[in-house]
Amino acid sequence: MLDLLIKSAKLISIPNLVDVAVKDGRIVEISPVIIGEATRVIEARGRLVSPPFTDPHFHMDATLSLGLPRINRSGTLLEGIALWGELKSLLTVEDVMERALRYCDLAVSQGLLAIRSHVDVCDDRLIAAQALIEVRKRVAPYIDLQLVAFPQDGLYRDPKAEANLIKALDLGLTVVGGIPHFERTMQDGTRSVIRLCEIAEKRGLTVDLHCDESDDPMSRHIETLASETVRLGLQGRTVGSHCTSMHSMDNYYASKLLPLIAEAGVHIISNPLINITLQGRSDSYPRRRGLTRVAELRAAGVNVAFGQDCTMDPWYSLGSADMLEVAHMGIHAVPMTSREAMAWAFESVTTNGAKAMGLPDPTLTVGGPASMVLLQARDPIEAVRMKATRIAVIRNGKIISETTPRLASLFLPGRPQMLDPANFAPLTED
Ligand code: FE2
Repeated sequence: MLDLLIKSAKLISIPNLVDVAVKDGRIVEISPVIIGEATRVIEARGRLVSPPFTDPHFHMDATLSLGLPRINRSGTLLEGIALWGELKSLLTVEDVMERALRYCDLAVSQGLLAIRSHVDVCDDRLIAAQALIEVRKRVAPYIDLQLVAFPQDGLYRDPKAEANLIKALDLGLTVVGGIPHFERTMQDGTRSVIRLCEIAEKRGLTVDLHCDESDDPMSRHIETLASETVRLGLQGRTVGSHCTSMHSMDNYYASKLLPLIAEAGVHIISNPLINITLQGRSDSYPRRRGLTRVAELRAAGVNVAFGQDCTMDPWYSLGSADMLEVAHMGIHAVPMTSREAMAWAFESVTTNGAKAMGLPDPTLTVGGPASMVLLQARDPIEAVRMKATRIAVIRNGKIISETTPRLASLFLPGRPQMLDPANFAPLTED
């Protein structure tokens, strides 16, 4: 007796429709037709069943705090950081936990089951770290939550940052964060990258830096991150998040930098919702889009993933834990509109995010964990286009969320129908 049988599913790597059988939390068979009894049968009707979504860059300590204690009026990164500083002194463990758990509920409903959150450790009380360690424990049955010790006020700009960062790692945070472009000088930024990589190497941890989240083309800390990665043997264990200054770098310099990033195996995380709203704020016209060189990094062989960064916090008033919304914005903001690139955008919020987080490849295979999402779409591009409803979210063989598909009842003369807004348009090939 199977635990779960999904009939007529579209899997990303298989051209024809298949049935998927689940037993004891694992996928036990993928075949065109599976005959067998199951406790629960889901009719996918040709819709896409994909790996769960991943968000490799988020701030769970700040999420859902919009309006506390006030709104960011200028909309800039720097006012956001100042506003967060005001809110930080008011935080309690209970408040951070309540907001984070509420966000995790929303994430599950959106099929988002792996999140890396930066946690501000520039706080002698380490309130956010304590709260999110408890949240990590509570959500472990359904979300892989990774916590980054993030010195928001700068490793050297805040005289207590390093001591608090070490304390937070001792408490149980597992990734070393940083913000070199926010240090007082370029030299301090460089020193911080070196120091943070050394801390990670000594402890056997990974590094994930807010790196060059700036419009300044001379902000080149990603270069130091790549060279430190090689020097310390951290290949595959370092991440440059944002890296927006790359959009304004000289092309010749970028042509040297990109292979260096690829050689070092540094993962790059771009956050399209935030980068397109926070960057280019001091521009008149032409105004920069604000994203890093996503297409060129891909072409150089770098693993690039998209992150959400914020949902309803001092930096961003919108957001909905919907990684398809993030991919959709990425396609527009980069821009990258070929069918190959749009299909890649779906990977950037599933498999690529998992890779950047050091998680196992979540591709659905026989013998692998039965964690997946049934979407109201027939393929990855349609899923991005429609920001498809997550009809069923499955974690280790158990259905943990269900949403009714969107179907419109039309009462038109001569054309009464139930319309599925996802699949009325024919698919076309380039
Ligand atoms: Fe961030």
